[in-house]
Amino acid sequence: MSKIITITFNPAIDKSTTVPALIAEKKLKCTKPVYEPGGGGINVARAVKKLGGTATAIYMAGGYTGKAFTKLLNKEGIDSIIAEIKEDTRENLIVYETSTNQQYRFGMPGPTILEQEWKQCLAQIENIKEADFIIVSGALPPGIPLTVYSKIASVARSKNAKLIVDTSGDALMEAVQAGLYLIKPNLAELSSLLGKENLNIERVDEAAKEVINKWKCEVVVVSMGGAGAMLVTRDLAMHIMPPAVKIKSTVGAGDSMVAGIVQSLADNKSIEEAAQYGVACGTAATMNAGTELCRKEDADHLYKLIQVTKFR
Ligand SMILES: Nc1ncnc2c1ncn2[C@@H]1O[C@H](COP(=O)(O)OP(=O)(O)OP(=O)(O)O)[C@@H](O)[C@H]1O
Ligand SMILES: [Mg+2]
Repeated sequence: MSKIITITFNPAIDKSTTVPALIAEKKLKCTKPVYEPGGGGINVARAVKKLGGTATAIYMAGGYTGKAFTKLLNKEGIDSIIAEIKEDTRENLIVYETSTNQQYRFGMPGPTILEQEWKQCLAQIENIKEADFIIVSGALPPGIPLTVYSKIASVARSKNAKLIVDTSGDALMEAVQAGLYLIKPNLAELSSLLGKENLNIERVDEAAKEVINKWKCEVVVVSMGGAGAMLVTRDLAMHIMPPAVKIKSTVGAGDSMVAGIVQSLADNKSIEEAAQYGVACGTAATMNAGTELCRKEDADHLYKLIQVTKFR
């Protein structure tokens, strides 16, 4: 069986609650909060499990909140390797306003990581005996230098593992320069990587091809929300369109998509099939309220309804 490893440098306890209305200055009565373990790679590992696979989550955690985070993750039965830190793991707040059906998401910056702490985490990644896919997802917390991506890229090469990175800004630039197998930028992330403004669907194929030609990246899956995704490799370009569904919340769509792609690849499917299953999983996640990730039965159903247009 293929081994999937996810890496999360900046995990968070996602604390969700609801209020009738968000009003300034007033004391707001919130409902009993729901706590979930979150952060890019953590969500990918949880979604892989929902799809019937297994992933090991490597993450940094510390303090009282770090312990609470680990307890939440253990409850979900996710294999994990913890890189201990001194400061407290962050907590994010998600407030759902019932009068408007709108969600407000407050993201905290995350603890500052010491040099020996992130180096220790890298050593833990290196110590993994077997890895076929390594997924690094989410932002870097303060203290970890961007060069961490080139270190992970060389670990992935030494283990013959396919590296997948889902991040944005300077971190994404560093990752493609370091070399990897696949990136999954959305339109805004791809535009900013190439220093282009307002990249539209018509120019996505050309832009993704530019990434492949310029840096060391084999596959680009550009996610485009309701318009699905564009899969681009050196000799392939295909638009993958999901069917229309009733959207409840798009939170977790990107992470569910990455999980669908990697789980398919781990099942020895082709990159075309994997990208289509990824779109099915991303869209399946939008059918669930709040922070809930994709359900396998929804993803399997949507997969059959996907429409593909090949350009190359
Ligand atoms: N409104 C939508 N309708 C249908 N499918 C959607 C919608 N939004 C997202 N998806 C599905 O989820 C996938 C990933 O979503 P999106 O392009 O929004 O990624 P993202 O911006 O990385 O999301 P995230 O905020 O989770 O990081 C899409 O390719 C699509 O399959
Ligand atoms: Mg995303």
